Amino acid sequence: MSVTEQAASALMNNYGERTISLVRGEGVYVYDDAGKQYLDFTAGIAVSALGHAHPKLVARLQEQVATLIHCSNLYRTPWQEQLALRLQALSGMDRVFFCNSGTEANEAAIKLARRYAYRNGAEQRREIVSLPKAFHGRTMGSLSITPKPAYHEGYQPLIPGCVTPRDYHSAVELIGENTAACIVEIVQGEGGVNVVPRSVLEEINARCKETGALFIIDEVQTGVGRCGSFLAYQQLGLKPDIVTMAKGLGGGVPIGAVLASKEVAEAFTPGSHGTTFGGNPLAMAAGLTVTEVVSEPSFLEHVQDVGAYLRTALEEFGREVSGLGLMLGMTVENAKAFVLNAATNGVLLTAVADTRVRLVPPLIVEKTHVDEMVRRLRS
Ligand SMILES: Cc1ncc(COP(=O)(O)O)c(C=O)c1O
Repeated sequence: MSVTEQAASALMNNYGERTISLVRGEGVYVYDDAGKQYLDFTAGIAVSALGHAHPKLVARLQEQVATLIHCSNLYRTPWQEQLALRLQALSGMDRVFFCNSGTEANEAAIKLARRYAYRNGAEQRREIVSLPKAFHGRTMGSLSITPKPAYHEGYQPLIPGCVTPRDYHSAVELIGENTAACIVEIVQGEGGVNVVPRSVLEEINARCKETGALFIIDEVQTGVGRCGSFLAYQQLGLKPDIVTMAKGLGGGVPIGAVLASKEVAEAFTPGSHGTTFGGNPLAMAAGLTVTEVVSEPSFLEHVQDVGAYLRTALEEFGREVSGLGLMLGMTVENAKAFVLNAATNGVLLTAVADTRVRLVPPLIVEKTHVDEMVRRLRS
């Protein structure tokens, strides 16, 4: 066994075989251990919003590493308070809780929704309604509201009270007096880059308000400018009670956040939920830098502009091109083979279903990079 094989065999096999070994990144490019350059249209699964080694982010993180990396939530830190204020201003939500990933954010959102019902004398409200093809994460709570059977295999029993209808519209009928919350994505990334119809989202929003259930929007993948607005739901005029964020918010540094209205947020009282690492100064410095860049109106216009350009370019390679901003998917005959060929030609893409390919480049991507990607894919 080679040293490389021996090293790889020290890891659990939950990710299957990985053939590319990345060692460095710069802008929208990453490089493998043999020096081969790839155009990164995966961005660490919709994470590296500012691309790789962004000078502002590097400088800010270096400064923070030399100042204070971690101190726990036993203490206040200015960075956590600053990022909470920033997210408050950018989202219009009232309160923020920081954690470390998307699944943790959704886990906290489920807990918050149930506890809100409990504290408001509606203990029968235990159910969480999620949509078909949703993906909300891999911890037990988030997994329970992620309906894909393959992800459940061998992990039952999942948490009780999680229901998913067969089609989007039926979700509206499932929301009632036993519902703690309904959770949606605006564009379902892992489910195949499906844009959930606006009418469905509006009906769910209205039904939640009518029945007293909470409306949760999972912006883990769609948020932080990915869809051309700071949060995707802001394009639709929806009124969520809870919003979850992660991925792009830290530009590559692990982070998660739950945003809620004041009334709902009050259900979390001292000691009722927590995390050691959540809101640590390093992640907060990353979040402050990313949000400073991304929230610029010209930056969001750039995402819309290059997104539209990329969408047109993709029509050459696939059918049913869908998505919003720089979160796009297309249908090809064999997604795995397409992604493999693209990597051979120096483009990183992801397969999100047998026939669906997802493109989520760094948000700093330029039209010239799209042209370059097209040339590489053609070859
Ligand atoms: C919409 C959505 N929610 C939650 C998650 C889980 O996030 P994480 O992998 O950071 O736990 C993902 C990850 O792909 C996601 O796309």
